[in-house]
Formats: sequence, structure tokens, C-alpha cells
Amino acid sequence: MGNLVELKLHGSIALIMLDNPPVNAMSFAVRQGISDAIGKAVSNADTRAIVLVGKGRCFCGGADIREFGQPRKEPFLSDVINLIEGCQKPVIAAIHGTAIGGGCEIALGCHYRIGDASARFGQPEIKLGLLPGAGGTQRLPRLIGIEPALEIILSGAYLGAEQGKALGFFDEIVEGDLTQKAVLFAERLLSEGKGPRPIRDMKIHKDKAEQIFAAAHAKASKRARGLIAPERCIEAVESALRVTVEEGLALERKFFDELVRSDQSKAQRHLFFAERQARKIPGVPADIPARAVRKAAVIGCGTMGRGIAMSLANGGVPVTVLDMNQDALDAGLSAIHDTYARSVSRGSLAQPDMDKRMAIIDGATDYAGIGEADIAIEAVFEEMELKKQVFATLDEVCKPGAILATNTSTLDVDEIAAVTSRPGDVIGTHFFSPANVMKLMENVRGRETSPEVIATVMKLTKDIGKVGALVGVCDGFVGNRMLYAYTRQANFLLEEGALPHEVDKVLYDFGLPMGPFAMGDLAGLDVGYRVRQHRRKTKPSNDRYSPIADRIVEMGRHGQKTGAGWYRYDKGNRKPNPDPEIEKLIIGVSRELGIERREISDREILERCLYPLVNEGAKILEEGIAIRPSDIDVIWIYGYGFPRGRGGPMFYADLIGLDTVYKAMSRLHEQHGDMLRPAPLLEELAKFGKKFSDLAS
Ligand code: 3HC
Ligand code: NAI
Repeated sequence: MGNLVELKLHGSIALIMLDNPPVNAMSFAVRQGISDAIGKAVSNADTRAIVLVGKGRCFCGGADIREFGQPRKEPFLSDVINLIEGCQKPVIAAIHGTAIGGGCEIALGCHYRIGDASARFGQPEIKLGLLPGAGGTQRLPRLIGIEPALEIILSGAYLGAEQGKALGFFDEIVEGDLTQKAVLFAERLLSEGKGPRPIRDMKIHKDKAEQIFAAAHAKASKRARGLIAPERCIEAVESALRVTVEEGLALERKFFDELVRSDQSKAQRHLFFAERQARKIPGVPADIPARAVRKAAVIGCGTMGRGIAMSLANGGVPVTVLDMNQDALDAGLSAIHDTYARSVSRGSLAQPDMDKRMAIIDGATDYAGIGEADIAIEAVFEEMELKKQVFATLDEVCKPGAILATNTSTLDVDEIAAVTSRPGDVIGTHFFSPANVMKLMENVRGRETSPEVIATVMKLTKDIGKVGALVGVCDGFVGNRMLYAYTRQANFLLEEGALPHEVDKVLYDFGLPMGPFAMGDLAGLDVGYRVRQHRRKTKPSNDRYSPIADRIVEMGRHGQKTGAGWYRYDKGNRKPNPDPEIEKLIIGVSRELGIERREISDREILERCLYPLVNEGAKILEEGIAIRPSDIDVIWIYGYGFPRGRGGPMFYADLIGLDTVYKAMSRLHEQHGDMLRPAPLLEELAKFGKKFSDLAS
């Protein structure tokens, strides 16, 4: 079995060490190795207790996700855990770093658990569209109670050493050499005459079970719309109260097998690897030294500047926010304070954490204060001349080696970089609104951006808890360029016969947080209006253009902020109400354009909006603007709320089949002309029966 699992027999304690870098995932060889090692320790007459530890960065990162979907090989993880739990000699898990998923379940199979201060545990399976499949739903509630167990299983969150100790997951948290301490712990157990303590024999506490499960069902249906895994998790935990451990384990296994085959889980597993793959940049070797980012500056304390400053502070990076306008700065800093305070009052942030974050954010109105920043992120108004002025100043005041980043959503990063003496240090860091919440950073590489700067920004992205994808320069970059392709068709559908709420409903039912019209009202319709007016002046074109959105803005309806946009809003209420006035406007525009309104089916709405989105993604790949299809999926999941269970637009297209998408696009092309011409890459992949995921990355 190679030596992925090492067994050391000395004296009364047997030490089993997992050694499967990087995260000691429970591959077949590791499961086999543990089984063999347990067998030897059990049959060795001198051994009286067994300690299980992980080498390297953590105890265990769970089942080997790469093996999912392949034929299962015995011993299964649950067999190994049953073997450990049934062992007649006490088994102790000694945990450092993470013990998650199957790794947490292995620890639950052990009779005792100790950890050091770095220890974290959790059941993240739900994030892969699964449920804990090796006993977690049966053992965790027995050990720590149904309420915290459900919370851990349904959130997928990792808990730390102290929380684990308070909940009774850890018997002890130790300092110093963990293995040594585990051996001492084992010897103490033996001297006290303590033996195995299988969790399966523990009594489950049923207090308030009914309310707890009712609350869990309610939360799951709200938070995880359309996903199957959360309900399965709840059902499996519920079974622990009703049936024997054996029956509970069998039910859990049945659910796991069903989920692991589901498209939803395939999609979420794809995303797990996609996120990590996105960090790998051709031409930027993994060992390239990233520059240290100890201090940051944000220029502009408006909507985005505030969120960016909070994102940095949340990740522990001290930040100075600069605004030319003292009132804007004061308003921005107090908005930051209020946002944190709301999190504290909701219970999602502890007061000391808020204090720590506020203490590392300060304001300035003078560039002199930011000369020492390792990175300056510009978020001033979206005007090229202004951005050029700001970058010329940053170039003057920032120390050599400082990275100059722009949060522009549409402007040419190369043109901005050209006004500096260090275009190699210039990069785009495109955050999404609200920047303190949305996880995506669409990082934009300019023509001259250096590999070191890319490596630094990609690392910073991860360090502050965001998910990054690197893209090239083009109008709208990847996300907004594709969004435009999608909203444009949604607008044409209105001219042809649909109404905003009909289009929005189809996309909401597909799983998006809202459809394009509700989203426009939320973002503010005036923003897009200004971009369109500018584009019409600078790049006039004869392409089909829908005037409806412009007319709505010209009526003074800028979306939720003015109480009306595509919809009408009651005061203090974000619920969009269809508005007869807008219906009249739309029907009037159809008449003006000589378009005969027709019945538009839900299917047509879905295809007409989503396929052009995918088609634009294919063009972006052809042009090399995105490195790989899975990066586009990452962008759409974390920047636009594309449903996780669909895996992102490119994965979704692969699932339905590129041939189907291509045929539909060809049909749309015939009906509506050149704007819907299938991308050559889509055509080629479809012709050869291939998928986007077959493209090398
Ligand atoms: N299986 C296979 N590969 C895994 C893995 C796993 N369970 N966990 C991590 N990896 C790989 C990653 O893909 C990555 O590979 P790469 O270097 O080739 O890109 C490498 O390990 C390092 O991962 P990270 O970059 O994420 O490293 P970090 O140090 O930042 O984080 C971690 C480590 C906290 C373990 C993080 O990887 C993580 O949260 N993993 C989640 C794993 C998970 O979901 N486990 C549950 C699996 S399902 C299960 O156990 C079912 C069971 O109930 C039966
Ligand atoms: P905003 O109008 O809310 O804020 C801009 C701030 O910049 C204002 O506080 C203003 O006082 C300040 N400012 C202007 N000139 C300045 C200068 N010379 N020096 C210092 N401060 C200056 O704008 P918003 O929405 O925050 O947008 C900022 C940038 O982020 C733009 O490039 C925009 O395209 C981009 N962006 C915006 C998103 C959004 O949803 N609002 C999403 C992603 C990117």
C-alpha cells in the first residue's frame, strides 16, 4: 500500500499516521492502509491503545472527492470507521488542522478525540451536494446533540478547537507536540482503566426535537432553494431518533448513493475543483514569490470602495480609504461602521471582531497618507480621464513595488496602465456589489501585468476569503460581457410578447436569485443607461437595440431606489409588483417597431436568455479572455448567483449537451439573425460530440 499509512508499534501504544499529501484524503489506498494497520495493532498483544494522527497540514480532508463517480472499492470508508469503533482497544484521534467530511467521521469512529489549537472540524458534504456518508448524521448528533449537529451538517461550516471542546466533540485541547500529548493521553486512559467508548452506544437526547427539525426544514427551504441535499441531511439526522444505528447508517448510505449520482452533486463537485483550478495560471508558476501585502489603500469611499475596504479588513489587511471629498469619506466610514454593527446585532459577527476590523480601517483625503501601501485599489467614478489622473498620482506617491489596481467594470486596464511608469504593476481587481458580501474577484490581467503581480493578487484574493478568476481585457471582461448577452435577449423578448415578471419568473425558477429585470431594479437602472448612452456616442452601431430600458429611466424610474423601475415598489418593501404602466409602455414599443406580439413559452424564455449567455462564454474562450470554461463557471456562481446546483453556465451547457445548445442557437440564429450566430467553438465542439470540459486547461 505504499506508505500512505504508517504504523508504529512501540510499547503499549500503537501510532497510526496518515501520510497522503496534501490533505490526507481517504483514497482507497488510505482506507486499506488504515484497515491493515488497525488489524495489526489489534492482533499485537503488547498494544493496549491506538492513536490516529495525520501528517502534514491537517488530520484529514475527507473522502477523496476525485474517486466519486468511479466504481467503489472495498474497504469502504464506513467499513473502516466501523472497524475502528468496534475495536476492543481504545482508539484516540489526535487532530491538528482540519478533520472534515470523512475525516470528521473517522474521528467520530474513534473513542476519544483530542486536538491542538489549530484543530477544526466540520461536515462540508452539503457544499458538494451530498450528506455525510460515513456515519456523520448518526454519530455527530449522539455526541454533541441534534441542534448543533444539524447546524454543522446543514451549514458545512468548520468549527474551531475551543468551540469543539465546549460542544463535547474534543475531550481535550492540548499545547505542544500533539503526537506526544496523544500518547500521554492514551497512557492516562489506560492507567485510569478507561476502555473503548463507541459513540453508537451513546444515548441521543430528544429534547425539543420537534421544534429543532421544524426550524431546520424551514431554514433549508429558504436558504437552499431547489437543492436536494439539505432535506436529505435533515431526514438522515431525524432517523437517528427513530431507528437503530444500523438502520440509520443504511438510510444515510442510501441517500449518499442517490446524491452522489445526482447532477446537483456533480455540479458542486465540479465547482470545488473549478475554484481551485482557477488559481492556477499558465505562465505564472505556483512557486513564483508573491509580494507581501501588509497594508492596503482604497481610493474612493463610495459604494464599492467601502465594501472593498471591509473585505480587506475582514481578511486582516490594514487599509486606508482615500476620498477627495471629506463628506463622502465621513459618510463612507460611518456606513462601514453601521454595516458591521448590523452584523453584530444580527449575531453573525462578534463585537470584538468588529472592533478589530474597525481598528485597521482609517480614512484620508490626502494621497500623502498612502505612500506605504503595498497595494492601492482604485474605486472612483467610472470615467477614463479621472482614472488616468488617479493612476498618475498613485504612480507618483506609491512606493516602488506597490501594486496599482483598478476596480473598473468596463474600462480598458491597458489604457489606465499606460499613464504610469510601471504598467507591470497594474492590474484589475473587479469586485462585485456588495463587495463585502460577494465572494468573486474577477482579476484582470493587462498586457504588461507581471506574473509576480498576478500571483500576489490571486493570493490576496484567497487570503481575504474571496474566490478569484483571472481574465483578460475586453469590454465588460467576462462576467458583464456575458450578462449583456443575456439581458439583451431578455429585453427583446419583451418587444416580442413577454412581460418582465414572466421572464423573471422563468429565471428565478431555474434557480437564479432573481431575473434580469428585478436585478436591474436592484442595481439601479441609471447606471446601465449611462453606459449605453456613452456607448452609442462612442461606438454607434446598427445592431438591434431595444429602447424600453432607456424610456423607463427617462420616466425617472431608476429602480428600487426611486420606488419604481421595471416594477413598482411599495414604500419600504423590496417586493417587485408588476406595473400596468410598464405593460402599456412595452406594448406601445412593440407596436411602434411593427412587431406582432406573440405567446412566448417558458422554454423559449429560458433558451433565449441562457443559450446566448453560453454562446458568449464560448466566444470569450475562443478569444483567450478566460483561461478555461470552469473559470467562467466560477465567475457566474460567485459574482452573479448562478445556481450552485447547476455548476455554472458552461457546466450546465455540458450537462444538457453542446449538440442541443448548438441546434437551439442555430434555430435562434435563423429566426433572429446575426446577433444569435452560434460561436465557432460551440459549433466545433458540438460537431465532434465534445464538451467544454474537454478543452485542455
Ligand atoms: N479529496 C480530493 N482532493 C482534495 C480534497 C478531498 N477531499 N480536499 C482537498 N483536496 C485537494 C484540492 O483539490 C487541492 O488540490 P490541488 O492542489 O491540486 O488544487 C489540494 O487538495 C489542496 O486543497 P486547498 O487548496 O483547498 O487547500 P487548503 O489548505 O486551502 O484547504 C481543506 C484544505 C480545508 C482540506 C480544503 O481543501 C477543504 O475544505 N476541502 C473540503 C474537502 C471536503 O469537502 N471534504 C469532504 C469530502 S466528501 C466526504 O468526505 C464524504 C464522506 O462523508 C463519505
Ligand atoms: P460611487 O459613485 O459610489 O463612488 C465613487 C467615489 O469615488 C465617491 O465617493 C467619490 O467621492 C470618489 N472619488 C471620485 N473622484 C475621486 C478622486 N479623484 N480621488 C478620490 N476619490 C474620488 O461609485 P461606485 O459605484 O463605488 O463605483 C466605483 C468604481 O467601481 C467604478 O469604476 C465602477 O464602475 C466600479 N464598479 C461598480 C460596481 C457597482 O455595482 N456599483 C460593481 C463593480 C465595479
